[in-house]
Amino acid sequence: MSGEVVSTTVDRAVRDRAARWLGRAGVRLPSFAELAEPSRIPEGRKAALRSADPDRPDPANLFRVHWYNDWSRTGLVATPQHLLLPPALTGVRSPIVVVPGCLFPMIGAHKVLAAYGCLIPQLVTGRFDPSHHKAVWPSTGNYCRGGIAISRILNCRGVAVLPEGMSEERFAWLRAWVADPQDVIRTSGSESNVKEIYDRCAELARDPANVVLNQFAEFGNYAAHYACTGPALARVFEAMRAARPNLRLAAFVAASGSAGTLAAGDHLKEKFGARIVAAEASECPTLLRNGFGEHNIQGIGDKHVPYIHNVMNTDIVVGVSDRSTGALDLLFNNETGLCYLADRWYIAPDLLPRLKLIGLSGIANLVAAIKTAKRLELGEDDAIVTVATDSAALYGTERRKFAAAHYPGDFDAVNAGEVFGQHLLGIADNDVLELTHGERSRIFNLGYYTWVEQQGVPVAAFERRRAQGFWAELRQAAPAWDMLIAEFNTALGLETDR
Ligand SMILES: Cc1ncc(COP(=O)(O)O)c(C=O)c1O
Repeated sequence: MSGEVVSTTVDRAVRDRAARWLGRAGVRLPSFAELAEPSRIPEGRKAALRSADPDRPDPANLFRVHWYNDWSRTGLVATPQHLLLPPALTGVRSPIVVVPGCLFPMIGAHKVLAAYGCLIPQLVTGRFDPSHHKAVWPSTGNYCRGGIAISRILNCRGVAVLPEGMSEERFAWLRAWVADPQDVIRTSGSESNVKEIYDRCAELARDPANVVLNQFAEFGNYAAHYACTGPALARVFEAMRAARPNLRLAAFVAASGSAGTLAAGDHLKEKFGARIVAAEASECPTLLRNGFGEHNIQGIGDKHVPYIHNVMNTDIVVGVSDRSTGALDLLFNNETGLCYLADRWYIAPDLLPRLKLIGLSGIANLVAAIKTAKRLELGEDDAIVTVATDSAALYGTERRKFAAAHYPGDFDAVNAGEVFGQHLLGIADNDVLELTHGERSRIFNLGYYTWVEQQGVPVAAFERRRAQGFWAELRQAAPAWDMLIAEFNTALGLETDR
């Protein structure tokens, strides 16, 4: 468990050895500024990218770890691709925009950015030696895939630690990408069993060759999303506002797994005054009610408050049932469901096939956005921005299980209408908590039991995260790492980039 802000070089010899190792593998590191604004990537490198396969462990793909990939994932766009959902689909007047993470390379999810953000500070400060260390990636399935992809590119061993109950698609991907099958470690339980992952990582950390990159505690995860995801979502909103000058950004919604994505909210709140809305599964209402339980909104493991969650800056918590996410996933990925949406609600033909870009947690974000719009009585000038971390492509096996359990016959047009009526049009503002100072403190304090009692973080280090000044200082980390990345790139021994 790092829990530290890693900013000073601890071992120049290790740093230089790492740089030479990467130089031999032909790897150059993009800066966070380039990933935040890919137009800054040198022209030669952009040209080279065009021929690189986005689904291979090609070093060029590090320069695609951002929100500006086009639909084909080979070219760049000026404004991140997004889905603007109409009131006919959401049942609210507020424009809800979903930015898809599946355009990120190699894993089809934005968690590869979090993995890059967690490893790079260790690498450029001489804490991680790719010729010797193994990178250990604790996760509910996407972060560890991102970590394994980055490890492959860096030519180092990567170990994925994830619960055995995660979707088969995640395991199939891991089998194809890890160097050794033993590098996939399955812990007991499923989505909300994060404690079991921590315990296994603590065992692994006893071997000094293992460097555990705990996304729930690594400030690189926060800093990468603040520096890259925040401005990318701001760009989407600004493009919408260019067409509608009265538009304001009422809220940013993100389901919390590690709470990395929520860091984008800190940027959007600073810039536009947007409220920050954290979504979680109603079946495991940790933030809502200090609760616990099992759920299947994969990626948003719970029963703890991540160390990198800026709780005192969070405004609303929304619970979403996994019954809703399962049912809507079926509606959006089924011919009968799509025909129903087209024929009955006139949903535009170009939007319909893109609904499959919204995976289970993205659907949770959508439902949470609708609940927020209802609670706050938002109107047509109040936009809500959210993300879909991954797409439906990762959940075919889960969908078949859900359909077999709930629609053992065929899923017909009546079923489609029922799902639409119950889980979209009929959404109420239950499980919506507008946070007072007292509620924020209650959630913040809940983190004590994980971080101080279980993980041994000193109380003072835990407490300093209450103050917004702490997070403001943390936001300077990415520019500081960029200077170290530039030094590192110079030490690679490769030709200068142009
Ligand atoms: C599918 C999915 N959705 C949402 C999340 C939560 O994102 P974050 O960890 O940034 O809070 C994750 C995290 O792994 C995920 O895999």
